[in-house]
Amino acid sequence: MKKIQSDNYQILIGKNILKNLDLKSYSKIAVLVDEKTFIHCLPILINEHQKLKQSTIIKIKGGEKHKTINTVQVILKELVDKKFNRKSILINLGGGIIGDIGGFCASIYKRGINYIHIPTSLLAMVDASIGGKVGVNQQCLKNNIGLFSNPTSVIIDTTFLKTLPKKEMQNGFAEVLKHALIADKNLWNKIIKTDFDLLEWEEIIKKSVEIKNTIVCSDPNEKNLRKKLNFAHTYAHAIESYYLQKNNPISHGEAVYIGIMLESELSEINNEEKIQIKNYILSNFKLPLIPSKNELLKFLIHDKKNLNELINFSLLTKIGECTIDKMFSINEL
Ligand SMILES: NC(=O)c1ccc[n+]([C@@H]2O[C@H](COP(=O)([O-])OP(=O)(O)OC[C@H]3O[C@@H](n4cnc5c(N)ncnc54)[C@H](O)[C@@H]3O)[C@@H](O)[C@H]2O)c1
Repeated sequence: MKKIQSDNYQILIGKNILKNLDLKSYSKIAVLVDEKTFIHCLPILINEHQKLKQSTIIKIKGGEKHKTINTVQVILKELVDKKFNRKSILINLGGGIIGDIGGFCASIYKRGINYIHIPTSLLAMVDASIGGKVGVNQQCLKNNIGLFSNPTSVIIDTTFLKTLPKKEMQNGFAEVLKHALIADKNLWNKIIKTDFDLLEWEEIIKKSVEIKNTIVCSDPNEKNLRKKLNFAHTYAHAIESYYLQKNNPISHGEAVYIGIMLESELSEINNEEKIQIKNYILSNFKLPLIPSKNELLKFLIHDKKNLNELINFSLLTKIGECTIDKMFSINEL
């Protein structure tokens, strides 16, 4: 098992490591799940911690459209009804949606109770559970309500990946690629030399978490270096919005793969590297059509990072290095 120190909490990574979950000091425990993690993940957790049979299980509907204030109210009501207090704890057992909404509820309930992330999707393991961002959507504005709030600990047990559909593995893997491209050329080289189905997930997750953790610890509130994590995401968000408007939503991972290709193109890296990135993505993942630049501009001009009508990108300087605040006018794109 690997231990990584974050701000004021530890991240544990390994296989069959749930016994390290320490629940001794809590008066009451709730476990937040969605329909799928209720079936696939909760029995594994309870099997390791029989005490959880007596805990409060809060099951919510999965999916982005339920990541709302309404669901927050349902969860908070359950905590009130079961008389949860500041000595109680909430365990978020699920993907990024469970982590974001559970972390948000725990952070506002009685001005904050402890919570633990046990991420069960690849995306939540390498990205959403690290860095203390929690929150929910407001109407169609993604993550519009939220705060920075750290968990008590994060336990990443790769056993959970056994039941995760391949589509979800590929979705989360887009963030692994991003981490490698912005900070770890060795990881990138290893990935491109290995067949996707033969990747050593435990090793890859450890490396990826280390990269994200180092960046967020250096700039917890995203004033500076944390912006590196936005690489690929300016275009990705525009592409997601484009398909959403067409009533044909695509996954975040698909949008990030396209974002990686478009923003590598914009980066000042050599042609060989641009081709290597594009070839790897196109030969491994089936992606939706890339909208025309003109179509995307309509969405880029609304990006929340824009400054004085300039579009703000985080771009590669070479594979394994990234720079922030690269401004482009609409005409330059
Ligand atoms: N807080 C952050 O810093 C941060 C970063 C990135 C993404 N996010 C958020 O994360 C969310 C996306 O996360 P996600 O991709 O994990 O989506 P998700 O939570 O919807 O999980 C994906 C699907 O996989 C299922 N699932 C999860 N674990 C499983 C398992 N072990 N076996 C079988 N099925 C399983 C879920 O039930 C769901 O159907 C978005 O809302 C996004 O905004 C947050």
